[in-house]
Amino acid sequence: MSSTESMLQENRRFDPPVEFAKDAHVASIEQYERLHQRSIEDPEAFWAEEAEKHHWFEPWTRVLEYDAPDAKWFVGGKTNLAYNCLDRQIDAGLGDQTAIVWEAEGFDADGKPVVEHWSYHDLRREVSKFANVLKAQGVNKGDVVTIYMGMVPQLAIAMLACARIGAPHSIIFGGFSASAIRDRVEDGKSRIVVTCDGSFRRGKVVPLKANVDEALTMTDRVDTVIVYERTKHDGVNWVEGRDHRWAGLMADASENCPAEPMDSEDLAFILYTSGSTGKPKGIMHTTGGYMVYTAMTARLTFDLKPELAREGQELYWCTADIGWITGHSYIVYGLLPNAVPTLMFEGGPNYPAEDRFWDMIERHKVTKFYTAPTAIRAFMKWGEEHVTKHDLSSLKVLGTVGEPINPEAWMWYRKVIGGERCPIVDTWWQTETGGHMLTPLPGATSTTPGSCCRPMLGIDAAVVNSEGDEVGVNEGGILVIRKPWPSMLRGIYGDRQRFVDTYWSKVPGYYCPADGARKDEHGNFWITGRIDDVIVVAGHNLGTMEVESALVSHDGVAEAAVVGFPHDVKGNGIAAYVILRGELPAAGSDDEAALKKGLSAHVGKELGPIAKPDQILLTDALPKTRSGKIMRRLLRTIAAGEEIKSDTTTLEDRTVVERLIAQRG
Ligand code: WT7
Repeated sequence: MSSTESMLQENRRFDPPVEFAKDAHVASIEQYERLHQRSIEDPEAFWAEEAEKHHWFEPWTRVLEYDAPDAKWFVGGKTNLAYNCLDRQIDAGLGDQTAIVWEAEGFDADGKPVVEHWSYHDLRREVSKFANVLKAQGVNKGDVVTIYMGMVPQLAIAMLACARIGAPHSIIFGGFSASAIRDRVEDGKSRIVVTCDGSFRRGKVVPLKANVDEALTMTDRVDTVIVYERTKHDGVNWVEGRDHRWAGLMADASENCPAEPMDSEDLAFILYTSGSTGKPKGIMHTTGGYMVYTAMTARLTFDLKPELAREGQELYWCTADIGWITGHSYIVYGLLPNAVPTLMFEGGPNYPAEDRFWDMIERHKVTKFYTAPTAIRAFMKWGEEHVTKHDLSSLKVLGTVGEPINPEAWMWYRKVIGGERCPIVDTWWQTETGGHMLTPLPGATSTTPGSCCRPMLGIDAAVVNSEGDEVGVNEGGILVIRKPWPSMLRGIYGDRQRFVDTYWSKVPGYYCPADGARKDEHGNFWITGRIDDVIVVAGHNLGTMEVESALVSHDGVAEAAVVGFPHDVKGNGIAAYVILRGELPAAGSDDEAALKKGLSAHVGKELGPIAKPDQILLTDALPKTRSGKIMRRLLRTIAAGEEIKSDTTTLEDRTVVERLIAQRG
């Protein structure tokens, strides 16, 4: 790949607030730079110090053994994730403190929110009981347990129970369908599924158990299904001998289940991530390194303060689903070892109304808030009035993850949610990396809208060409990680060759996440999008992300997706799919034509004439996966005027595609 031209000009800078920096774990950019330098020059000493913050049944003999692409961390050490999430807090006298705050989507008979506070004691009791349930169902150390549940506390309990006995979990997001369950159960060779009868989503029941039943007609690998009854709706099918009620099994289970000492390199879990093509990849994470890295990054990125938590002054909320890596790492495993309570919410952001999140932040006095750019753009579209009627003054740090955040959305997040007071941490990472890789630290880093800033401590990130040589300042290239880190993926379950091909063959010797990036004159990183999201227009490589950002900086635009399509003259043309903040103008009207012209001129002004879209489609929705990622390959097919033949099963709403095709004509 030649270098991507970068035309996005963004010079606004925001220093960490002085008051905030004063007490922060990392309190200045100089301190960050010192720590970072040491972590790269003497990684073994650095990581040993981090690992010592945790409980180990047996110490490691070597910090790292590395023979690319294979890394072993804390070799010979024995530890347990659940022990470090629960018992360690209890041993330190914090047993009665809140570990998880849970809020249901629905309301009680008086219309009041339904909230549960789970202490470390409560959680350890239930986790131990469920661990004994799993054992009684024949689950042994090393057996893969499939979990397909809604966002209920029992999901966290089930995963921690697996960790307690050393059974790797494979959690499937509750929005996925039967065929996704079948594929993952088969790939993971899992004979047991833990599920719910249903989950609540915007007031409706999602029939989880029915999806499992359907999946199990397509595979005979599963002999045991445990069902937590959440929705208690009618008509749930029951297979005697195979299906068991959670409550029934828990009633007889012992509360005593010592945590199993796990080898640092024992498999902790598998999490499937969809590739742009082919079947999902079962990303493998192991125990010790994942534990150390997620806990450290949670502490530093969100500046977590256990001493404030003890006074009820610190509550962290990540709005992701536990079915994604964000939920694994930054709702559960990275948070509990830090002794800071983590808020878990069952429902969606606009139920019963568009102010649900802000109402919750006000009621619970949330201090650290972590969400996704796609959500932020939805909040913008819904309007500020839903936010400003709530008091969000408890907030101290705002985070974002999942895709590049366009500067407009960043500024809105800062102003409307953060009251111009809260540092924003734009965290770049992946399912494969386990934890944050590039991110500002809230007390140290001067931030610029759209940039994920600096490498995390211990991370050696660079922007290179395909030979692995660093490119110049502000020159686009391929993002790589040059040194191993504790929570790096250990492979793709059952597919060694795909692991090597996907991550280790584009740039020899380095981990390649397949994202494009550039580094600016301040040493800040900018993600320009997936390497395959680059459009070559008349010989210029344009990152789709930059054109999208330019469109969204137009007053009338809420969200935009940009793809390339074959163009006679330029090689590729630019097609822009634009969601407006206001009403869509009538198709074919003068208003529509004027608006499109205005949008094109705006992009021309922001980025230069080369970036002006050749096609603009005004739409009310975009095809997205259930995790909120725009399915660009579908948009590419539509823009090229071709028929859609590829898989659309992960699409959230299929009618969107039909409407776009109809519009294209
Ligand atoms: C891909 C990983 C990490 C948990 C959620 C997604 C994109 C993620 C950012 C960010 C720009 C980002 C990248 C990455 N991405 N965060 N802050 N800025 N891009 O996990 O499904 O494994 O996706 O998401 O393209 O490679 P995932």
